Formats: sequence, structure tokens, C-alpha cells
Amino acid sequence: MPADKSISHRALILGAIANGQTQIKNFSFNNACRATLNCLKDLGADIKNLSNKVVINGHDFLQPKKILNAQTSGTTLRLMLGLLAAQKFPSQIKCIGSLKKRPMSKLLEALRKMGAKITLRDGTFFIEPSQLSPIEYKMPVPSAQIKSAVILTSLFCSGTTKIIEPIKSRNHTETMINYFGGKVFCHDNKILCVGHQSLIGKKMNLPADTSSAAFFIVLALVFPGAHIILRNVLVNPRRTGLIRVLQKMGAKIFINNQHEIYPGEDVADIEVCSSQLKSIQICGDIVVDMIDEFPAFIVAALFAKGTSIVKNARQLKFKESDRIMTATEEFNRLGAKIKPTSDGMIIEGGFDLNKNCEVFSHGDHRIAMSLAIFAIAANKELVINDAQCIDDSFPGFFDYLDIFF
Ligand code: S3P
Repeated sequence: MPADKSISHRALILGAIANGQTQIKNFSFNNACRATLNCLKDLGADIKNLSNKVVINGHDFLQPKKILNAQTSGTTLRLMLGLLAAQKFPSQIKCIGSLKKRPMSKLLEALRKMGAKITLRDGTFFIEPSQLSPIEYKMPVPSAQIKSAVILTSLFCSGTTKIIEPIKSRNHTETMINYFGGKVFCHDNKILCVGHQSLIGKKMNLPADTSSAAFFIVLALVFPGAHIILRNVLVNPRRTGLIRVLQKMGAKIFINNQHEIYPGEDVADIEVCSSQLKSIQICGDIVVDMIDEFPAFIVAALFAKGTSIVKNARQLKFKESDRIMTATEEFNRLGAKIKPTSDGMIIEGGFDLNKNCEVFSHGDHRIAMSLAIFAIAANKELVINDAQCIDDSFPGFFDYLDIFF
């Protein structure tokens, strides 16, 4: 599988602000990570793409000569805003497509509480230099992007910022700062981030993406006779909710060779055998541990016996598309029976494939990939419109599917 997208964004950003050299092997040039890389280059970061690695020589940022562009990448936009808020020069950043409509007010509220001067006009964020101070921030929703933006800003303030999460979200920013020699203390749902610390560049070999792996895990489970092994996949528990859910559904998934790549981040080989699945109810904290995996989960639920129910997943409305609505619409178009609810969905196992063979991605890479694996497992020829958005996270996705033919 290609390198983990969440880890890749953070490796670039921390590499750019750390002292000394960071070397990143196995970097994935998906559109989202390219957007972060280009924003950092526009800030004067010294980033070189050598034959098999990305090499960053960290130094202070310079005032950009143009408006930064986060493209459609929410992680790029939110993390960059955290970084830009703390710079001594003014800057501007914009985005395109569905990201323009995604909520930003909670992040802006948090950064403004720290003293940041950010205004949003006609889809462009204007950031002015300001005097920042640490805060105690009780997060209103679980969001690793908002949390990471606040942590990045706090690295540039004097004093310690305290963040309290309602439910723990992915903690890659925290683990990676500590790997780079910084100090972020985590205890239960509380995070303490010490200001004005100096990070030291590192050599990294990026793990495979758990969220990309999810599509192949589900496809192997529902594809008769399949048996696959995905190597070196990131298995941080804040990312592996889907695997735990699938195992409860009766999936034969085995986690082999688990080992640490640095404190707080493990990788493993994931072995998957085709399995008969039963339905499940998903609610509570585990929703956050599989927040990007619901499109893949729906395919598993459609091949399971019985009716599956998803609750407490309102955040799905604010991803690259409103995934409650787009998943329902597109899978039902093919003959599935999914009912959307205000914070989730009810998925009846089984489907009556109809003649319809045209679906739409809604510009959402994970909706497109889930429709593709459904088509292969259901042996249905399908045209997925606007499928190029898959390159946002997983260039070459269709080549990987070849192993199922
Ligand atoms: C991400 C956090 C999650 C996730 C997104 C990547 C990250 O978003 O859905 O794909 O890398 O921090 P939220 O922070 O909005 O939950």
C-alpha cells in the first residue's frame, strides 16, 4: 500500500520546522500530500525530491510571494493555518472544490483564542502576524486536524497549551513531535504541549496507509477464496477501528509481525482471508477510530448477513462529501438498501443488483474507491464518474486492484 497520508503530511511539516535534515523514504505523492509539500515550498522550505527519498533541510519560513493553495486537502489547510498563524509575516491560503464548503469555524475559534489574526474572505484565509499565548482548549468535537493545528501553533508560543479531547482522535502529531525530540505529554484525553521547543530532523521510512489498506481488507473479505497480506501497515489503535469492527463481524483478519517504528507508532503485516460476515451496530468512541473507513465498511455491511446500524457518526457529513448522503445515494442507485439517519445509517445486508451501471464519486476519493471494490466483489461492470479524485489519496489504486482479476 502507498504511504500513510496523515503521517506523510506531518513528516513534511515537522521536517520543515525542525533543525537539521529530515529524510523521508517511501513518501506517497498523492494530491493531498503534494499540496502540503507545495505550500511548504512556497514558504521557502528547502525540500528536495531525490530518487528514493524526500530530503528536507529545516529553517525558518520566508514570507510567501503568492497565495498558498491547499487544493482539496483538509489536512493541508487546517495544519497550514496552525503553522501560518504563528509566523512573523502575513500570508494567505486558499482551497478549491468541496473543501471550500467544509466547516472551518471551530478551528478559527481555537486559533483566535490563542491570539491569531485570521480572516476568511471569498474562500481565502488572510493571516496577520500576532502575539500568541497558550490556551486551555476544550475541543467541541473530536478532530485530529483541529487538534494538530492548535498543537503546531502552540509550538511557537511561550508557555504550555492544554488540549482536552472529547474522544481521543488520531495522535500522529503528538507521537511525531516527540520522535523529533519535542515535548508533548498525553494523559487520557489531555494533551500538554510545551511552547518554544526545538525539534531535530529525523530519518523516516513511512508506513503503509491504514485507510488505503481498508479497501483491500474489505475486498479480500467479501471476494470468494481471496487471501492477501498487506505489509508494513500503520496499526495505531486510533486508526484501526474498522479492523476491530470487521473482526467482530466474523472477519478472518490476522495482525502479524507487529513492531514499533518509533514510540507510539506500530506497523504490522495484515493477513486477510475471505470470510462470511454478520451484521453489527457501531456507535460511541470507535466511530472516531474508523472515521475515514465508513465507505469501505458499507461494502462489508452489504455483504454481511443481517442489518447493520451506524450511530454517533455525524462527522461523516463534513468529509470530502457528506458521506451519509453520498454513500446512501450511490450504493442505493446500484440496488443496495441503505437508510440515512441524522448521525449515521441503517444498512440492510444483501442487494438486488439492478441495471444501473453509472455512479458518481461526488469528488470524494473514498466514495469512488468503495464503489470500485463493491463493483469487483459484486462482479458488476460499473462506470464511476469523476474517479480521478482517487489520486487525492491513492494514485495507482486501479493497478492494485489487478490482483483480483
Ligand atoms: C485527519 C483527520 C481526520 C480524517 C482526515 C485526516 C488527519 O479528520 O478524517 O482524513 O490527518 O488529521 P478530522 O480531523 O476532521 O476528524
